[in-house]
Amino acid sequence: MGEVLNLPDISVLVVDDDETVRESLTYILEQEGYRVVSAASGKDALACLDAEPFHLYLTDLNMPGMTGIEFMESVFRRQPSLPGIMLTGYGSVETAVAAMKAGAFDYIAKPFDVDELVITVRRALEFSALKEENTALKSSLKSKYRFVNMIGEAPATQRIFHMIERVADTDSTVLITGESGTGKELVARTIHFNSSRRERPLVAINCGAIPEHLLESELFGHEKGSFTGASATRVGRIEAAHGGTLFLDEVGEMHPSLQVKLLRALQEREFERVGGNRTIRVDVRIVAATNQNLEQMVREKKFREDLYYRLNVIPIEVPALRERTEDLPLLIRHFLERFNGDKGRKVEGFTDDAMALMAAYNWPGNIRELENLIERIVILEGEGIVGPEALPEKIGHRNVTAALGRVVLPEDGLSFDKTVSEFEDALILQALERSSWVKNRAAQMLGLNRTTLVEKIKKRGLEERYHPKARLREAQAGSSLNQ
Ligand SMILES: Nc1ncnc2c1ncn2[C@@H]1O[C@H](COP(=O)(O)OP(=O)(O)OP(=O)(O)O)[C@@H](O)[C@H]1O
Ligand SMILES: [Mg+2]
Repeated sequence: MGEVLNLPDISVLVVDDDETVRESLTYILEQEGYRVVSAASGKDALACLDAEPFHLYLTDLNMPGMTGIEFMESVFRRQPSLPGIMLTGYGSVETAVAAMKAGAFDYIAKPFDVDELVITVRRALEFSALKEENTALKSSLKSKYRFVNMIGEAPATQRIFHMIERVADTDSTVLITGESGTGKELVARTIHFNSSRRERPLVAINCGAIPEHLLESELFGHEKGSFTGASATRVGRIEAAHGGTLFLDEVGEMHPSLQVKLLRALQEREFERVGGNRTIRVDVRIVAATNQNLEQMVREKKFREDLYYRLNVIPIEVPALRERTEDLPLLIRHFLERFNGDKGRKVEGFTDDAMALMAAYNWPGNIRELENLIERIVILEGEGIVGPEALPEKIGHRNVTAALGRVVLPEDGLSFDKTVSEFEDALILQALERSSWVKNRAAQMLGLNRTTLVEKIKKRGLEERYHPKARLREAQAGSSLNQ
């Protein structure tokens, strides 16, 4: 028999620049059985909100950088139903009114009374639970954009929505595959929040980011003294996910020795903590994701076949953005709204030319690349309608041929050789992209023989500059800089 787990499933975010206040709020709320995450600034807190779901937040009013009111307004734009409580230093009527206007559920004057704080928190949570029941009713009226944060209308995206809907409320294991940045994690979250486990924790673990020797104790927990440095008993992620969903991200990166242990835990739904002999039983739903080709890894004996079959009960393949460019306008609008809101800018949209270039680009970094691009553009452009000149060269460049039909010699002339070779590049690249870089086919399309084409590609370094793999590396470098 497994022990009864009483793990906190209500998460509260505390935002205050004063460490003492953060600590005492955390202490009081943890005593009440809530899970508490604290942040020292509005900016950090927004990142926390992006990273995981919360049921409530408390924010200080006066903070350097983003004020409490500004923070509240940002939260309201992203998650209008998330209740917030404002901590005011002055308790003056004006600040209270401003807080309520910004969407606060209530406010508490500092220094606060512990009982008052506890009661206000409880009321806010009850109130939002009621509201949620109501919206749950409303959302059963299905719309084309069924999921709040996940949008798209392309047939390929609709298929994913349909899959999510069908599998969300089952306990089946789901394996999500897809290129980097396609939205695998978002699919996992959407599954969890559309399942009956939504009130219970969604616990994510990135198997690729944690060194092997730590991963085991992260997953399974450990008993006090089980190895040097294990000074206290620690609950692992599987245990923490009890009643909810465990998201095994980048599962293809897991070391074979751990794969065996994971397999057993998944099969039996029970395991022991590292250094422990008590068997712990859990009720968890497993969702795994990878951008690797697990089937191939199985063939190469890098991934256990039995584990692969255990995970691949319901496969969901998230298509690359280039395979669903119909979603671009909707996604662009979504990201514009979000970043305009976050950054107080007013970029209205893109010109038709710019949209055409983006639709023709092949987005190796997928939706994350698009998201980063829109963020940059919102910051740099600030307002108005954005034209093609604001797009990075790699997006603008490849469509030089779009201009072929309307070549006009510029007023002050041009460099003939450079222009002609740009046209050549553009033609070659289009042929390569349409043929998925199969050079025989590209050569056919251009009426060149293969050797001539290969020579040209080599001479101009087109492969290094434009091959999807090279671009992917670039996009990844870009996205890690952004974090
Ligand atoms: N359909 C969508 N609608 C809105 N935003 C999306 C959609 N799909 C993905 N995104 C956003 O794109 C970004 C990348 O998504 P996510 O992190 O889920 O991708 P991933 O496949 O897990 O990437 P990686 O393989 O690099 O871990 C996130 O900010 C996510 O919110
Ligand atoms: Mg991911």
